[in-house]
Amino acid sequence: MDLQEFIRSIPKTELHLHLEGAINPETFLKISRKNKLEVPQFKIVSDLYRYDNLLDFLKVYSMASRSVIDADDFHLITYEALQSCANSGARYVEFFFSPHVHLECGVAYQTMLAGIFRAMDDIETDFGLISKLIPAHNREHGLERGFEFLDMVLAHRTDKVIGIGLDFDETPFPPAQFKPLFDRARQAGLHRTAHAGEGGPASNVRDSLDLLKVERIDHGYRVMEDLDLVARCRADRTVFTICPSSTVGVTIWRDLAAKDHPIRQMIEAGLTIVVAADDPPMFETDLANEYQLLATNMNLDAAALKTLALNSLEASWLDESVKRDWR
Ligand code: ADE
Ligand code: ZN
Repeated sequence: MDLQEFIRSIPKTELHLHLEGAINPETFLKISRKNKLEVPQFKIVSDLYRYDNLLDFLKVYSMASRSVIDADDFHLITYEALQSCANSGARYVEFFFSPHVHLECGVAYQTMLAGIFRAMDDIETDFGLISKLIPAHNREHGLERGFEFLDMVLAHRTDKVIGIGLDFDETPFPPAQFKPLFDRARQAGLHRTAHAGEGGPASNVRDSLDLLKVERIDHGYRVMEDLDLVARCRADRTVFTICPSSTVGVTIWRDLAAKDHPIRQMIEAGLTIVVAADDPPMFETDLANEYQLLATNMNLDAAALKTLALNSLEASWLDESVKRDWR
């Protein structure tokens, strides 16, 4: 069995995938034209997705998000996102979506959920892949709109909605102000995760753990700037969802093979990491390729790859009984 086949064959979960970041450029064009929306000039389709820092990336991400209007559009993008996970050998997926930008386009939350939920059911039927949804608050909208967001999420909650996330630009919008939002989510029985330490400092990782009481950290690379925090996270087996291709695309760490790449340092420091694809077509990747990139750039052998896959199962919010059956 070659490496590619081996990676596809190991049972794994995808825990850090943004629905709107999983819109293929061809699909973006197709639904934009159907919805009579203007698209930027381009020579080749892949030119639609060009950026080299997080802020530019988030603009393109929001542009792609604005193309998605009716329930069929949501169905299509969700089906394609989850099908890519199935093709990578994922058995289970917890994925983010970004309601704010759709609400601003006049799309009702119920419309979003109708298409997304139908696709989740279809994927389970067609591929046996189970998935759960994590609506994510765009931190750039602040706390008050966070409460409105959470009220909406809770009003339309089903067992398909498993938790909340916090994403977009963390540097001017650090975690502390969102404590009351995350307290309320916890009291309502939702799981919680937050982007931290991707562009922002290690203190954002610490505050997300201590104030927001998140159960996972998304990215978290800059934890490596605080060795006391590293020691604590190692002891607590804090879970970091790491996304190799998006570090190359939008962070300062462009060389996955470099000795000072934080993902390598996190592995060497014994932190618990879970490999994930973030925004796969936007970084020309998929889940299996993210494992492959780690294997080839960081010399991980089959046993190490299996451990990573097992981490992804343990870090998921699946019931303990389901986890037990999978081990
Ligand atoms: N939304 C989609 N991808 C993101 C990332 N890498 N960081 C913050 N917000 C995001
Ligand atoms: Zn992300």
